[in-house]
Amino acid sequence: MNSIWEDIESIKGRKMLEGEIEVEVVVIGAGMAGCLIAHQLQKAGKEVIVLEAKRIASGQTQNTTAKITSQHGLFYQTILKELGEEKNWQYAAANERAIKQFHQLIEEEKIDCDYEKTNAYLYAKEKQCLEEEVRAAQLAGIQASYVPAKELPIQFLSCIGAVRFENQAQFHPLKFISHISKKLRIYENTPVRKVENNIVFTPKGKVKAEKIVFACHFPFVNFPGLYFTKMHQERSYVLALENAMNVDGMYIGVEKHSFSFRNWGKYLLFGGEGHRTGENIMGGHYKVLEQKARELFPNCTIVRKWSAQDCVTIDQTPYIGNFASNQPNWYIATGFKKWGMTSSMVSAMLLTDMICGRKNSMADVFNPKRSIVGSLPEVLEEGKTAVQSITKRIFQVPKESIKELLPGHGGVAVFGGEKVGVYKDEKEKIYAVNIKCPHLGCQLEWNPDEKTWDCPCHGSRFDYRGNLLSNPAQNSLECCCSIK
Ligand code: FES
Repeated sequence: MNSIWEDIESIKGRKMLEGEIEVEVVVIGAGMAGCLIAHQLQKAGKEVIVLEAKRIASGQTQNTTAKITSQHGLFYQTILKELGEEKNWQYAAANERAIKQFHQLIEEEKIDCDYEKTNAYLYAKEKQCLEEEVRAAQLAGIQASYVPAKELPIQFLSCIGAVRFENQAQFHPLKFISHISKKLRIYENTPVRKVENNIVFTPKGKVKAEKIVFACHFPFVNFPGLYFTKMHQERSYVLALENAMNVDGMYIGVEKHSFSFRNWGKYLLFGGEGHRTGENIMGGHYKVLEQKARELFPNCTIVRKWSAQDCVTIDQTPYIGNFASNQPNWYIATGFKKWGMTSSMVSAMLLTDMICGRKNSMADVFNPKRSIVGSLPEVLEEGKTAVQSITKRIFQVPKESIKELLPGHGGVAVFGGEKVGVYKDEKEKIYAVNIKCPHLGCQLEWNPDEKTWDCPCHGSRFDYRGNLLSNPAQNSLECCCSIK
């Protein structure tokens, strides 16, 4: 389902790469991160091209709620406890500078993108965690304060209060990217098939570059880097509501089943119901969100619903920097969690400095090669998920038969001795696919909310016909066309 942003902005199309090119820097991915990185590098005098598998901003950028904020959940107290004051400052300073950089860029280039300065609120039922967050954020130099529930601009939240970050912002992501991408040399419909040292291979061309930046959400290169061992993906859902209310700020809850809010014009964007990709066998997330919206805003109309997908690293901090020790000219920007706007700008600032040979005092905390010793339990958990999923694919025999499957439903079934993923449409037409994930072989799981096959290991997604929707997989699924 398309997000609300796609209604009004059509970004100019670009041609596919054909033939061979030599440049200083090639950026893989023309989402918010890729375009900002290319934009900053170009401003710094580098010759840059961007390769995009589909269309500009057609990945996760089109699904963001576009909050430009350094408020990233209860994160400052965590980073302070685990990594100390210096890293806490680095993380905060990088994100606060990213907000200022957005502001400056939008002012300088007079970008018409519904940019609005506003406050961000993190609400919770317990006061102590909020007060700790205020202290940790203040220590890192952020203008943070505790606001009791009765003083909050919205009263319906069942919370004790909130942490307020001032001078944050929100905007229209596609209007913004449409502007900044105008002067960039971008090739669309140009998926990268492989990267070998300083050569990037695409279906009809190749690029020789001094520096290569992976800004493609989840990196599709498994070795080196091993990002698949230290990152997974999560999904969440958003509704655009009309006749809801003006909430005067951006809100997100701390507790597991809380919600997020922000306005865009006459709409209220209302989100929540997050879960790990591939773990939505029962479905019903849109339904829960819709019920809650109607309960909170009885007069509202749901005008649009869509979902987003985010990469989450094992220590919750993005990987921005050198890709791997044995590839000194490769760079990566990934693992932004729900904070893709500021993290994209942080990536643009850090990677531009690195590529231009300048020192950046905030780089350490984002270093992709940082030690994983403190996160070993999470690494083992990621490994366990992969082993369980592969074992399930090989050994578990499905109970469901194709006949029993109700119209409009999907599931794993056996056909002709083979285990297949099946979707039966409302007219009882069968779509069957191989449920072995083309990335690293985990078993795909049916997602009834979106009628897709999702991978619980690293989050690749496919529609019911088997077409690739999200990486790290690079190929679509094999169809089992013999089933009628
Ligand atoms: Fe890695 Fe499916 S995404 S195995």
